[in-house]
Amino acid sequence: MLQIEERRDLRGEVRVPGDKSISHRAVMFGAIAEGRSRVEGFLPGKDCLSTIECFRRMGVNIHRKGPTSLIVEGRGWEGLQEPKTVLDVGNSGTTIRLMLGVLAGRPFHATVLGDESIGRRPMNRVVEPLRLMGAQVDGRSQGSFTPLSVRGGNLTGMIHRSRVASAQVKSSLLLAGLQGKGVTRVEEPALSRDHTERMLGAFGVKVDRDSPRSVSVAGGQVLQARDVRVPGDISSAAFLLVAALLVPGSRLTIRGVGLNPTRTGILDVLRRMGGELEIHPTGEWNGEPVGDITVSHSSLTAVEIGGELIPRLIDEIPVLAVAATQAAGHTVIRDAAELKVKETNRIAATAQELRKLGARVEETEDGLVIEGKTPLTGGPCDSHGDHRIGMAMAVAGLLATGRTTVTQAEAIGISFPGFSTLLEEL
Ligand code: S3P
Repeated sequence: MLQIEERRDLRGEVRVPGDKSISHRAVMFGAIAEGRSRVEGFLPGKDCLSTIECFRRMGVNIHRKGPTSLIVEGRGWEGLQEPKTVLDVGNSGTTIRLMLGVLAGRPFHATVLGDESIGRRPMNRVVEPLRLMGAQVDGRSQGSFTPLSVRGGNLTGMIHRSRVASAQVKSSLLLAGLQGKGVTRVEEPALSRDHTERMLGAFGVKVDRDSPRSVSVAGGQVLQARDVRVPGDISSAAFLLVAALLVPGSRLTIRGVGLNPTRTGILDVLRRMGGELEIHPTGEWNGEPVGDITVSHSSLTAVEIGGELIPRLIDEIPVLAVAATQAAGHTVIRDAAELKVKETNRIAATAQELRKLGARVEETEDGLVIEGKTPLTGGPCDSHGDHRIGMAMAVAGLLATGRTTVTQAEAIGISFPGFSTLLEEL
């Protein structure tokens, strides 16, 4: 349980843990590459540790050199071995969906499962196209849900027009496509995060960006080992940014944050709301732009968000909802139905938990409507076992009067180990 009661201006300079999406990819791409890859700035959160464990079970040597430093001994695609036990992804959607793309082309059998939340998340969005490419996949409800059983095989490239803007779907199919015959192209309704495209390029793979929303790879390509330095996770930084914007007297600098344009929707929206944010780009790490962000307490006004912006801030919507409770006017978030199939139904969970503290929040079919400015009153809330709901409520607790408690707070360790210590230090 997390308990938040004393709050002061948040001032100082901090770093946030490594980017979750990039950490997963560094382990996976290192594991299928030829040679030894060193990873620095790795996120030692539970999800990324699940990725390490799954690839170890396929015979890949991965050495932890320190909490955020790893060596991955890749032996190419052929170096992966049939796992003797089930591959358990825990709570991690990225692990399971990307790994299914890898398994689809391997000449062996694997059983994949995860926790209760993973058991509710749709897998047919990757299973169906992977079957069309030639993989045998079965599982609960005809393979729509875990546990899943995969027998990989000879794959043939395909054109997939995805109904959802999902980097997990896109990445899974590109990883399968690299093992198949011919070209695999993925078209999406809006551009989702492009870490896979960038990192595959860094590992020596030719990736064609056919148009802003379409990407293709030719099969038969080999990845060459490569050292990866992981930027700070902008999705984790978002909780501190919103906290500093809302708590009077705050001024906070977060250093070394990933500024990939497919992830910076939160910065655009907070600025549109009137947030004082200074962004200083400092360089590029393996194809990923990085910089420092300074944020100062600001008064905010409501905005409407939807369309192509949504995939650029999909994981930040719970904390954006917290900011919206303190923004003058009606904040409308639409086109975000994907939130219903995240670690929990984040539309329902955000509305339910924020209302407990007195916020005025309505759920819609595909988003939320939030009325501000509303004073919040501290009280008991729950993370629903979802790291981002837990942290969003902790930020809300910083604004609320009295004491706020967040139960099932251990979920926060999925993506932001050390979150409560960092807040306390601030
Ligand atoms: C991720 C993609 C997104 C995001 C998730 C991480 C990734 O999910 O919400 O936290 O690393 O590819 P979808 O692909 O389901 O949109």
